[in-house]
Amino acid sequence: MNLPFAESYKIKMVEPIRRSTREEREKWMKDANYNLFKLKSDYVFIDLLTDSGTGAMSDKQWSEMMLGDESYAGARSYFNLKETIKNILGFEYVLPTHQGRAAENVLFSALIKEGDIIPGNSHFDTTKGHIEFRKAIALDVTIDEAKDTQCELPFKGNHDLKKLAEVMAKHRDKVPFILVTVTNNTAGGQPVSMECLKGVRAIADQYQKPVVFDSARFAENAYFIKTREKGYENKTIREIVKEMFSYADTMTMSAKKDAIVNMGGFIATKHQDLYEKACMYNIMFEGYVTYGGMSGRDMNALAQGLHEGTEFDYLETRIKQVEYLGKKLDEYGVPYQRPAGGHAIFVDAKKVLEHVPREQFPAQTLGVELYLEAGVRGVEIGAILADRDPITKENRFPELELLRLAIPRRTYTNNHIEVIAAALKNVYDRRNSITKGFKIVKEQPIMRHFTVDLERVN
Ligand code: F0G
Repeated sequence: MNLPFAESYKIKMVEPIRRSTREEREKWMKDANYNLFKLKSDYVFIDLLTDSGTGAMSDKQWSEMMLGDESYAGARSYFNLKETIKNILGFEYVLPTHQGRAAENVLFSALIKEGDIIPGNSHFDTTKGHIEFRKAIALDVTIDEAKDTQCELPFKGNHDLKKLAEVMAKHRDKVPFILVTVTNNTAGGQPVSMECLKGVRAIADQYQKPVVFDSARFAENAYFIKTREKGYENKTIREIVKEMFSYADTMTMSAKKDAIVNMGGFIATKHQDLYEKACMYNIMFEGYVTYGGMSGRDMNALAQGLHEGTEFDYLETRIKQVEYLGKKLDEYGVPYQRPAGGHAIFVDAKKVLEHVPREQFPAQTLGVELYLEAGVRGVEIGAILADRDPITKENRFPELELLRLAIPRRTYTNNHIEVIAAALKNVYDRRNSITKGFKIVKEQPIMRHFTVDLERVN
């Protein structure tokens, strides 16, 4: 008999989590104004709010923490990180930041001005926020198929190169750089193919523009290239990663994802002039250029995480767990963005809660229902997250209205996955009785989803 697949690690340290009653959850959810971000984590049984900073560090990462050099300037840990980034990703210049959005803030301060247009494959919300905050435009050029959750494509996170070429032809003077997000988080953790990366590079070269990679889940992207793209099946993850970044000028990284640390990020670039310009902003916003908001021990753990995060066995364990949740949902008939993403399953809330009007936020409603059902916390990727249009101030209703169930790295077992799937099945089975959603009672103008207060519609 064939041996079943099993994790490529064993567990050395555990953290207790607690079940709760439905009654308790009803009260906690109401007290949190139906915003899942406002729940205490102690009130959550299985936390799928994000895969960001929620992974389990390895014994080697923890041992690296003990070796951190906490010097203000020129710390050994910085040079360790810089060397690792050079070796694995191929960038010469490195600026640590405390997390991904901080890297965006620093880099965009150096690159973006009012009126600019930044084309990309579904900008992540903080990326869009940092662009729009500078009165520039985040222009989405993702392939149209990404908006059809039932369309099964190997590289559903791709740029539509035709759309991109048109934008460049029309707005070349307004485009400071082209953005590539790997994997495409907003479209469902969907990967970008090497062919697409090459195509983006060719268009950028034609217009002499730099390419910036938002690289939070670059290693998961490389796994999909290895397992799905012709010609890459015999290449190692590291070889694929090197080739991916050969098409980039600069990258921002939220290390809380594929570098498997709880906090951290960086900017890396091949261009000395940009590095020097960004240094100024880094010193102002983050910290001196050799620590940028990170302690030495954290830079050490990050460097070790880059090694572990780009190992095939680790990635296979990780992505197969996400697939396992997808397979369970297939069994129960629950519709989600197909195929399963690298870091999460994105449940198609419009298809599940057909009776809840868009204006009443079906994905948020589904998220609240799942929490009430089993203490499982996901996150809305829909109209609340999309914010209002900065000019018309109207709510934006994106094509996709999803409940994201992000799986933390090396954290939960497949028994947890089964609880998640069963809870979702229970909500799905009573979907026709859910006809009302929520209305917003308080919100901020940018990234409102983090702090929004909601009320049930009666
Ligand atoms: N870019 C992408 C693609 C991301 O997914 C994130 C964060 C960031 C940038 C910002 O990084 O959080 O370190 O400041 N995504 C998290 C998520 C928050 O839940 O998807 P950060």
